[in-house]
Amino acid sequence: MAIELLEGIKDESDLELIIDMEFSFFKNPSGHKSVADARKLIRHLLGYPDNSLVVAYDINDPVGFSIYGPPFLEDELFRGAALQSNIRYDDNCNSVSVIAVLPEYRKKGVGTDLLQKVIEGSKENGTSQLYATCWKGKLGESYYLFKKLGFKELGTIGGVYCDGTSGIVVVKEI
Ligand SMILES: CC(C)(COP(=O)(O)OP(=O)(O)OC[C@H]1O[C@@H](n2cnc3c(N)ncnc32)[C@H](O)[C@@H]1OP(=O)(O)O)[C@@H](O)C(=O)NCCC(=O)NCCS
Repeated sequence: MAIELLEGIKDESDLELIIDMEFSFFKNPSGHKSVADARKLIRHLLGYPDNSLVVAYDINDPVGFSIYGPPFLEDELFRGAALQSNIRYDDNCNSVSVIAVLPEYRKKGVGTDLLQKVIEGSKENGTSQLYATCWKGKLGESYYLFKKLGFKELGTIGGVYCDGTSGIVVVKEI
């Protein structure tokens, strides 16, 4: 399996496949109510010029993606988590807004490669910290992915997800 990582999409129509991925992984109860909601979020995130999209392709098919950039809505959340953990908060930090891989391509290292690319891209943006929120336990594969790549757990924050579920804030000095 030769997976290619690209910054951005190969074809405009690939954006709909990314939106479908976003919806299928983050739908109700804790996430989107409809594909339209997922589309709105992805378009919103990509509307920020400082945000970056990394896509994992199996030839011409997107099989995973990540969006990262400066935190907007999560800025105060990360700042608070850092403060409670006595960690210096980098005002120029980056956040992994989303990372996801199609189920049939999981556990093959694609998520690791995507996150490595996000780390490298963030370094190039001149930031020294990369934050994310993730679930722990059931459905919490991303927690283990972040831990594997050296992210530290800062604490649990209530009500991070739409249904009020808690999220774990993780950070990596890069
Ligand atoms: C999280 C996700 C992107 C990981 O992608 P992946 O391609 O399977 O990741 P990798 O194969 O590179 O695995 C990396 C590490 O994650 C951990 N991991 C992956 N799947 C796991 C699982 N089901 N249970 C426990 N740990 C798991 C392991 O530590 C693994 O390292 P190892 O293979 O050396 O043991 C993928 O599971 C996913 O898309 N999940 C749904 C979406 C999501 O929850 N995204 C995060 C919120 S933004």
